[in-house]
Amino acid sequence: MSNKIIVVGSMNMDMVVKTSHIPQPGETVLGGSFLMNPGGKGANQAVAVARLGGDVTFIGKIGDDIFGKQSSQLFDEEGVDTNGMLADDNCPSGIALITVDERGENSIVVAPGANAHLEPNDVEEVLNNYPYSKILLVQLEIPMPTVEHAARIARGRGMQVILNPAPANSLVPAMFNLIDIITPNVNEAEMLSGMQIVDIPSAKAAAERIHAQGVNHVIITLGRQGAVLLEAGVFHHIPAPQVETVDTTAAGDVFNGALAVALSEGKALKDAVSFACRAASIAVTRMGAQSSIPFRNEVLLNSMT
Ligand code: RIB
Repeated sequence: MSNKIIVVGSMNMDMVVKTSHIPQPGETVLGGSFLMNPGGKGANQAVAVARLGGDVTFIGKIGDDIFGKQSSQLFDEEGVDTNGMLADDNCPSGIALITVDERGENSIVVAPGANAHLEPNDVEEVLNNYPYSKILLVQLEIPMPTVEHAARIARGRGMQVILNPAPANSLVPAMFNLIDIITPNVNEAEMLSGMQIVDIPSAKAAAERIHAQGVNHVIITLGRQGAVLLEAGVFHHIPAPQVETVDTTAAGDVFNGALAVALSEGKALKDAVSFACRAASIAVTRMGAQSSIPFRNEVLLNSMT
């Protein structure tokens, strides 16, 4: 088995506007600067893996337009293997409209475009070319049957399956048993557990509820408070470095990419979560999705400060 990480997921072009506050329904806000940069949860996670030193193949779908071409060109420059990138000539690439407020919090609307046409068979064909891979990393910005099929194949091959359940969605019961590690944020964990998370003890209770549904290990990311990990019945709270937040977009993606890299290198889960928290804490100090993803040496330096 190699150290290969396969990321199956979405690829978007992000259109970002900085604003004093996120508009209410019916409200127009005069915003600040505009930034267009490649995003999409799957693509962000693949770039994070590459920048942090992992061996990564991305499986996803772009449309027949300039955005898809630009994103795939950038992947080549980043060292992401693009042999699993497919194109659909009949629809546009995915687009995300993002507003980021003064505190760095965001609101995102995604028009999935070609991401919605990534079929189970597409993924199976590509996965067959990488039989000895170690980790599958997948999110929920592509069709659920595709997520489930990819997880089932990977599980059957003895790969470690990491599901980042974003954006928040419910999962069919069979799905939980296919996942080794699930990485919800607070909103997603509340949805999956049916419990409110207000502090570390309630995060622990939610993690236990999610674990009881069939997932081996549960990691709930808590932003500035780091993450909680429930591993084999043992609970840990892993703090994050305290930084000044500029934009939280893609912080979760960086966390997941970093987690996968550390695990592919054989690190213990608790140490992998700590590495992921440090990587994500750098991403929030910068604007944008892929533009905010740190390189490995930056994260290593971050551990010494
Ligand atoms: O997780 C951040 C990402 O969510 C953005 O890049 C946007 O494209 C949406 O997919």
